[in-house]
Amino acid sequence: EQTIQDELISSIRTIEDYPKEGILFRDITTLLGNARAFRRAVDALVQPWAGSKVEQVAGIEARGFILGGAVAHQLSAGFVPIRKKGKLPHETVRIAYSLEYGLDEMEMHKDAIQPGDRVILVDDLIATGGTAEAACKLLRSMGANIEAACFIVDLPDLGGRKKLEALNVPVRTLVEFP
Ligand code: PRP
Ligand code: HPA
Repeated sequence: EQTIQDELISSIRTIEDYPKEGILFRDITTLLGNARAFRRAVDALVQPWAGSKVEQVAGIEARGFILGGAVAHQLSAGFVPIRKKGKLPHETVRIAYSLEYGLDEMEMHKDAIQPGDRVILVDDLIATGGTAEAACKLLRSMGANIEAACFIVDLPDLGGRKKLEALNVPVRTLVEFP
């Protein structure tokens, strides 16, 4: 029996020079397309919260929606989309952030979180942590209690985990790529 780490790592595809020269892009679409790897990844992400009450799972556009929806379903929690600017129809809170290969703004609906809600943040991968840090700030601005931020992949050399831990957000990741 393959360990979960070996199975997840071998199901992730690496693309050189995408989306920019010098980036080694870890492509999780091949993991999502592998039924067994997808199930194991979602099961492992939710495992610490099985049986505890989580009100909302927040997912970061775009790949955090796929995983976050599955995680929310397994925890019988609601799902909150954190989106690139201009996509949400109701009143939002917005924040600018930088990522490994650019600058952007993200937002969420103001009424998506009730003060005190226990929230898990989900995305596919943490690199510099700029995206997840901005998402945590948005969630906290609405009164969320962030239980943890969860990712399949950590790129530890880019320092994202430390950035979130400095905000007192516990970080859970399943595999690392140097
Ligand atoms: C990727 C990834 C994370 C983020 C990680 O998304 O899915 O959301 O970058 O980078 P960071 O830790 O350096 O902030 P991307 O911005 O490529 O958006 P997409 O999912 O919409 O393609
Ligand atoms: N893969 C997917 N998303 C990313 C990456 C990567 O290697 N780096 C920053 N965001």
